[in-house]
Amino acid sequence: MATIRLGDVAPNFTANTTEGTIDFHEWLGDGWGILFSHPADYTPVCTTELGTVAKYKAEFDKRNVKVVALSVDGLESHKGWIDDINETQHTEVNFPIIADEDRKVSELYDMIHPNADSKLTVRSVFVIGNDKKVKLIITYPASTGRNFDELLRVIDSLQLTAYHKVATPANWNNGEDVVVVPAIATKDIPAIFPKGFKEVKPYLRLTPQPNLD
Ligand code: BEZ
Repeated sequence: MATIRLGDVAPNFTANTTEGTIDFHEWLGDGWGILFSHPADYTPVCTTELGTVAKYKAEFDKRNVKVVALSVDGLESHKGWIDDINETQHTEVNFPIIADEDRKVSELYDMIHPNADSKLTVRSVFVIGNDKKVKLIITYPASTGRNFDELLRVIDSLQLTAYHKVATPANWNNGEDVVVVPAIATKDIPAIFPKGFKEVKPYLRLTPQPNLD
């Protein structure tokens, strides 16, 4: 297992999931993706997380992002647990869950951290761009449920960088001014960002979010 770093091509794999066997790269197609692991089926925090992800499907679709979850439990376990998630979280799980019983994917993506737990996966998140490259890696402990609003916020930032050559400042939220990347010379800003810009310092140039009317 090699360390996966930002900018690396996300390693490909085939896996059994609750929606059939997938080849990860084929399944991603030309869209963006999130691969996220959880420690185990039939556990409380994970139940709330997977229910939340199901409810956010429209937000992920809007951003052309496919989501796939993973745990080291088997398909039958996943299927029974999905019934519980649907019942208790008032939703329908609408994304595949990988049954990684042989830990092939967990090991490929370094999702088992032996000093946290020798067998179970931690809460890893990998955001993969439409170029198949890893754009974001976050690792949470088993006891902390993830903030999926933050994940959407980061995806918005990543897509602004990918499509509009801007970065986002601290605590940025959708709709707020963004940062012109250093690679763009100040003299070239007006042609690229017709909404205008503010030069706070030569290295800190702000412009209205370019993808809004
Ligand atoms: C949970 O999902 O609730 C959980 C799983 C493993 C350890 C602690 C919490």
